[in-house]
Parts: sequence; C-alpha cells; structure tokens
Amino acid sequence: MYPGIHERCVVVTGGAKGIGAACVQLLAAEGARVALLDIDAAGAASLVAGLGPRCQAYEVDVSNSAAVRSTFAQVVAQQGPPTLLVNNAGIGLNEPIPSTSDEQWDRVLGVNLKSYFLCAREALPYMEAVGHGAIVNVASVQSFLSQKRVAAYCASKAGILGLSRAIAVDHAPHIRSNAVCPGTVDTPMLADALAGAPNQEELLAECRAMHLLKRIAQPTEIAQLVVFLLSDLASFITGQAIRIDGGMGLEIGGNRRD
Ligand SMILES: NC(=O)c1ccc[n+]([C@@H]2O[C@H](COP(=O)([O-])OP(=O)(O)OC[C@H]3O[C@@H](n4cnc5c(N)ncnc54)[C@H](O)[C@@H]3O)[C@@H](O)[C@H]2O)c1
Repeated sequence: MYPGIHERCVVVTGGAKGIGAACVQLLAAEGARVALLDIDAAGAASLVAGLGPRCQAYEVDVSNSAAVRSTFAQVVAQQGPPTLLVNNAGIGLNEPIPSTSDEQWDRVLGVNLKSYFLCAREALPYMEAVGHGAIVNVASVQSFLSQKRVAAYCASKAGILGLSRAIAVDHAPHIRSNAVCPGTVDTPMLADALAGAPNQEELLAECRAMHLLKRIAQPTEIAQLVVFLLSDLASFITGQAIRIDGGMGLEIGGNRRD
C-alpha cells in the first residue's frame, strides 16, 4: 500500500507508545524492518513481541549522544543500515518561563530537539551511502501556535521545523526530510497532560472544540501521514512542515451576524 517501505530498515524513536507505536505497527504491517528506540524498555518489548522478528526494541535515552551512537551500531549489526527515520520521541512540560529551571529546559530541548539531530546524524551517512533515504520529524501544531505555559515545548517544536528544512537542503536530491505537525492526539502524553488538571472532562471538551473537525486525532491518523511521507508516494515532497490538526486555528471571528 505504501511503496518503498517493504524490507527497508526504519528507526522509530519513542515507538513504545502513542503516535510512535502507531507508526511502528503500520511500518511492520508494510513489511519494514523496524528498530524501535525508547526509554520505556518494557513498553517497547511488549509492543514488538506481537510484531514478529523483523521488529526489534532498543532501550535508549535518545537525548544521550553516546547511547544513540551505540544503539545505531547495534541496529546496523542486527537489522542492516537504516534508510528511513522517524524522529518522534517527545515530552511535555507545563511551566511558565519564570519558574522553568535550566534542567527542565535542557531536558525538553534534549529529548524533543537534540535527539532529532543525534538520530539524523547517525542515520544520514547510511542514507548517503545507499543514495536514498527519508526522514520524518514529528513536530506539533505548537510549532506555529502556542498554548499557555509551554514555552520550552514550543521552542523545541519550532526548532524541529528549522532542522527538518536544513536536512532537506543539505541532503537533497537523494534524501527527503519533512516535519509532521499534529493537533491534539489521543495518546498517553495527552492523558498525562490532563491528569494534573482538576477539570479533566472540561479540558478534553475544550481540546475537541479547538479543532474545526470537533474531535481529537487517533494515533493511526498521524502514523498514516508519517508512513506516506517516508514512502515513494511522497517522492516530490521535501522540506515541508505539514499540519495534521483538524483545522486548528483557521477560523477567525469578526463577522458575527446573530
Ligand atoms: N499527543 C499529542 O496531542 C501530540 C500533539 C502534537 C505533537 N505530539 C508529538 O508527537 C510525539 C509523540 O507524542 P505522543 O503523544 O505519542 O507521546 P507519548 O508520551 O504517548 O509517547 C512518547 C514516547 O516517547 C518515549 N520517550 C520519551 N522520552 C524519551 C527518551 N528520552 N528517549 C527515548 N524515548 C523517549 C516514551 O517512552 C513514549 O514511548 C512527540 O514528539 C509529541 O511532542 C503529540
């Protein structure tokens, strides 16, 4: 269904849960050899257990340069050189700037942005060596729009757009790089974000209402765009930031007649 995926080795970061897990499942169904990199060893192992021997889990904190390097070496030894990469691992932080610590800032930027650079740095030479490759970086609608109290997250997500474009420019014409920018998605990250709030149902209703389509996305809807962009179906798309956000932020006021 998605040409150019079968038998390819693809690295997916943060693949144990949520959007990453949906990508892993779809890629496995398309016959890819999937390397799932995640800090959650148990979650990653239980996901790959149901997907057959071509999918392998690797426990790694993807913000750690040395750990990423040694993990890619293992992936190459066990599954062959990766020519497709999905940078997806991410964490949130609900904190206004005045109370954001250096450590919190570094952690969010480390996981959400630096890890994308680290994994691209490992994967690109393999892509260059075979003469083709594709990278999809999972950013966010918050690359463009901002909630309150999420400055570090927004900075990381805006940074991903610059990184994705720079990779596209530096590694054309054989390697494509794009960013995917989801609106609200039904994942453990969303559940964690809601968990701290006293009025969870109200907040969820507000989340649904922010999208023109009046609902939040399922992880598979995002995975389908990610795998499309990795595949040959997207052979003329590079350097783009593609919003998959149910039309969030498009409607403006100023024309009430009621
Ligand atoms: N859920 C949403 O509403 C939403 C919206 C827009 C963008 N996103 C982005 O999509 C991506 C996936 O989000 P999700 O909602 O599926 O999140 P999630 O929390 O459900 O899953 C994230 C995965 O990343 C892994 N991870 C976290 N830190 C890691 C690290 N240091 N090293 C390796 N793995 C690590 C986690 O263990 C988990 O498996 C993130 O980049 C997120 O910012 C999510």
